[in-house]
Amino acid sequence: MQRLAITRMVSRSIEHCELLHLQRQSIDVKKAIEQHKHYEDILGEAGFCLLRLPELPQLPDSCFVEDTALVFNEIAIITRPGALSRRPEIESIKEVLSPYRRLFLIQAPATLDGGDVLSVGKQVYVGLSNRTNRHAVSQLQKMLNPFGYTVLSIPFGGCLHLKTAVTLISGNILLINPDWVNPAAFHFDHVTVDKSEPFAANALLLNEFVLYPSAYPKTLKKLRDAGIKVRTVDLSELAKAEGAVTCCSLIFQFIGEKERNR
Ligand code: GLY
Repeated sequence: MQRLAITRMVSRSIEHCELLHLQRQSIDVKKAIEQHKHYEDILGEAGFCLLRLPELPQLPDSCFVEDTALVFNEIAIITRPGALSRRPEIESIKEVLSPYRRLFLIQAPATLDGGDVLSVGKQVYVGLSNRTNRHAVSQLQKMLNPFGYTVLSIPFGGCLHLKTAVTLISGNILLINPDWVNPAAFHFDHVTVDKSEPFAANALLLNEFVLYPSAYPKTLKKLRDAGIKVRTVDLSELAKAEGAVTCCSLIFQFIGEKERNR
């Protein structure tokens, strides 16, 4: 089955990005672009067909495409990002996704960032955050329940998005920072991040391996000791913009129109 990955080139204005939990630091844009390109190359090597979108110079956070949509096998849901500066990002994502899925739109007063949504099979965990509210959870339930998904809200704190605190590293194992989200909220095995690496829970599962930031060697060792196949990438410049490996792509299966309408 063909797998696709939407990415968007890093904006030259990334230094003006939204920040919630980090101090602003100078970002080397050239280096950020190179690191992002390396990330895209790894997705390509992993067999993904890349839909590389052009830079949006006026939208500093626009390379973090994960926040703009949720793509399920049956439908795609266009979000309504919690940060006002990020709302214009959704327009072009609607266009890009419309040939692939029937689109549903999150509506005011709901706000939703894709980074707050962790899907494990038919379970959809939605972190309640500065960016994502309970109206979004209700709207997601209405959109997804008919397709057999269960949508649950998850309280968490200390970081920007739910997926800063917890991600999936195999079919049924999570990588988690227990200081930010309670592992008992999920009914799965888990590996915890090393205490000294609080931001280390964001990993991107790509079927054959987990793509993981090189910045967290202690947690990386824990992953490898747990038998997880890992490939590392340096995204140090995007990390200064509170970005991480899941944020930089929207990954989904190609499903033909006939199959979708069955
Ligand atoms: N800078 C990433 C975000 O705040 O959405």
